Amino acid sequence: MADMDDIREGNDFGLGIEVEKKSFYLKGMDNMDWGMKDRLSRVFNKKSGRTVMLAFDHGYIMGPTSGLERIDLNINPLIEYADCLMCTRGILRTVVPADSNKPISLRVSAGSTILTELNNEVLYDIEEAIRCNASVMAAMVEIGGKHEASTVKNLTRLADLGAKYSIPTMGVTAVGKDMARDARYFALASRVCAENGSTIVKTYFTEGFEKVVNACPVPIVIAGGKKLPELEALELCYNAIQQGAAGVDMGRNVFQSENPAAMIQAVAGVVHDNLTPKEGFDLFETIKNQG
Ligand code: 5RP
Repeated sequence: MADMDDIREGNDFGLGIEVEKKSFYLKGMDNMDWGMKDRLSRVFNKKSGRTVMLAFDHGYIMGPTSGLERIDLNINPLIEYADCLMCTRGILRTVVPADSNKPISLRVSAGSTILTELNNEVLYDIEEAIRCNASVMAAMVEIGGKHEASTVKNLTRLADLGAKYSIPTMGVTAVGKDMARDARYFALASRVCAENGSTIVKTYFTEGFEKVVNACPVPIVIAGGKKLPELEALELCYNAIQQGAAGVDMGRNVFQSENPAAMIQAVAGVVHDNLTPKEGFDLFETIKNQG
């Protein structure tokens, strides 16, 4: 008697019927439903299996940080080069053109700023993410910190709502103050996000990053962190991608670059086309010098 396992494995029971075994191209996503896969396929390029998310949500905790004073002038010209835009609803509604037709990774947790204690956050209303047509909902999780339990609770609630409406969720790992920024910590933090229902995990690159990726059953994207010289930022992207990251969710190393448009294109070359850091940097210089 045929059962579903035979069919999934492509057994045609000697009937000569071609049974196609299909699997979705992103790690751990085979069992997601159609709506979830549709949204993910808008975010992750199908050919490379990776994404360049442009992060400019920093203002929700930092205010108008350097490079983000004028989103209309500094960020909007970069939109065409990104696969996905990571921002808050305030900036989305007021500054991002609604016809830019890029998938949105919407920051849906908020609560405190750099002026008080960071990471004390609650969730927006899910309907707001639906109104904004979010392709991903992102919430901060502070593993190992004072707000661990409440932020994990936020994530689990978000994952429940995301599952209900087929909207992928992204756990954003904020590093607790006393935590070592090493592979052991990031593997734990990423795994906790995935175990609690994150569809994507955003974390940081570190030495031994392969261990972080291997222990996480869903795609990982890396944040860029503080501004680095362009070549070093491209090395960071390269190392993360070559060690299994499914992309970057990068902000300051793009919008604080001396040439943000050249930088995001160089990052895209490293992420999607496997350019080496040197090739990426040459691309950066070439675009920059074209003026
Ligand atoms: C801001 C964030 C950013 O989205 C994230 O840190 C990525 O930006 P960067 O590359 O500048 O670190 O979470 O709160």
